[in-house]
Amino acid sequence: MLQTRTRRRAWIAGFVTVVMASAGFLLSSQFAHAQSTLRAAATAIGKDIGVAVDVGKLQNDSTYRNLVATEFNSVTAENVMKMDTVQPSQGQFNFGPGDTLVDFAQQNDQSVYGHTLVWHSQAPGWVRNLSGDALRQAMQDHITTTMNHWEGDIFAWDVVNEVVGDDNGQLRDSFWLQGLGEGYIAQAFQYARQADSEADLYMNDYSIDGINAKSDRYYQLAQGLVEQGLLDGMGFQAHLILGQVPGDMEANLQRFADLGLKVRVTELDIRIDMPADSNELQRQAQDFERVVDICKGIADCSGVTVWGLRDGDSWVPDVFDGQGAPLLFNDDGSPKPAHTAVLEALGGGEGDPTTGAPTTSPPPTGAGCSAAIEVVNDWGSGWQANVSVTAGDGGVNGWTLDWTWPDGQSISSSWNVDIAQTGSSVTASDVGWNGTVASGQTREAFGFVGSGSSAEPAVTCTAL
Ligand code: XIL
Repeated sequence: MLQTRTRRRAWIAGFVTVVMASAGFLLSSQFAHAQSTLRAAATAIGKDIGVAVDVGKLQNDSTYRNLVATEFNSVTAENVMKMDTVQPSQGQFNFGPGDTLVDFAQQNDQSVYGHTLVWHSQAPGWVRNLSGDALRQAMQDHITTTMNHWEGDIFAWDVVNEVVGDDNGQLRDSFWLQGLGEGYIAQAFQYARQADSEADLYMNDYSIDGINAKSDRYYQLAQGLVEQGLLDGMGFQAHLILGQVPGDMEANLQRFADLGLKVRVTELDIRIDMPADSNELQRQAQDFERVVDICKGIADCSGVTVWGLRDGDSWVPDVFDGQGAPLLFNDDGSPKPAHTAVLEALGGGEGDPTTGAPTTSPPPTGAGCSAAIEVVNDWGSGWQANVSVTAGDGGVNGWTLDWTWPDGQSISSSWNVDIAQTGSSVTASDVGWNGTVASGQTREAFGFVGSGSSAEPAVTCTAL
């Protein structure tokens, strides 16, 4: 087992320089201010902030990889833990892509939410053709083998996904229901409990964010499963439309929590009729903030997962004609207003009155620029810093920062920056969109993950 793990991890070592911190970084002054990543803010209040991950992009796109690692403390496989990937032919399990995500998450100290075991969609042809005992056996084998494989790696599973249809709360007329009858739901949970007694077991669906016939049916199902000790959580996908966060969403999640369940927003996105204008992006930010506030207000809400990273990564434009821009980041990796709103809802960001604004080095006198490195998160084997740039008289249209690490530190990854490291010397330049800083203003410019210890470097800022 150990050998397998080491082998599976090898590709990751190729792009993430894994370096151990030799001593603690001096964090006290930096931690006087609010966190500036979603991850740090969510961790500080004991919630998960998750993202659905496309494993291909994780392997091939460094901006993607860095944002996933630095902004989120939880991940869900967008596709590769579904049955058509995991068991494409009967008895042949394909865990490789899921393992890639699990390994990445472990490297970055993130939890992995399992999605999904029993679903009518993205199920292979062979299983759709079974019924009766053969289908029941296949369901058990799939649940058991999959959960055993990731036992200890995956803390919670969507055991069943979308088992209620959109017709007045009736069970979905899927091949599972047709082949096994309605007892298949409880049966799936029994198999899951047997397979991994530690994992939290969830049901999950869309259009159940408010109180309606569909969520009422889930409420009944949940009561029955709770009585049998088979259910631990309820997942609310929250594929929402701009301006339509249900007014009773909080009450709805709370009624499930009152059954003794955890609740979780599992697939949040908020779609806009394209093209989205700036007013809509502001309103979207408010909607995101509302959803995060709801989770924050419910002690048993384990967290919020967004269904994709950048707008261009979202499934929405493929499925909902003419709609898009539903996520927290722009295609170039820059944060949208919704990101700022989520950050503030989680208690981070610059506006937090209890912690005050981050300190930056004093503005330069005259022309030119200055910069400040702020450590915002530290997880022992590494730390994350955000860097801000302040412009002097006349503003700047581009900047280059230079510093020398006083104590052998190094950078293992970075984002929104063009960075070069030679020995202990670092040169960091803007990537275009973040080059402009108005006269006397400060902007969050870029970030990086570093390792090593103590003393802060003296940074030189050169303006263009
Ligand atoms: C979607 C993925 O985002 C797409 O990439 C894929 O083509 C189809 O599935 N409800 C779910 C998710 O539970 O698994 C779906 O994910 C979105 C709706």
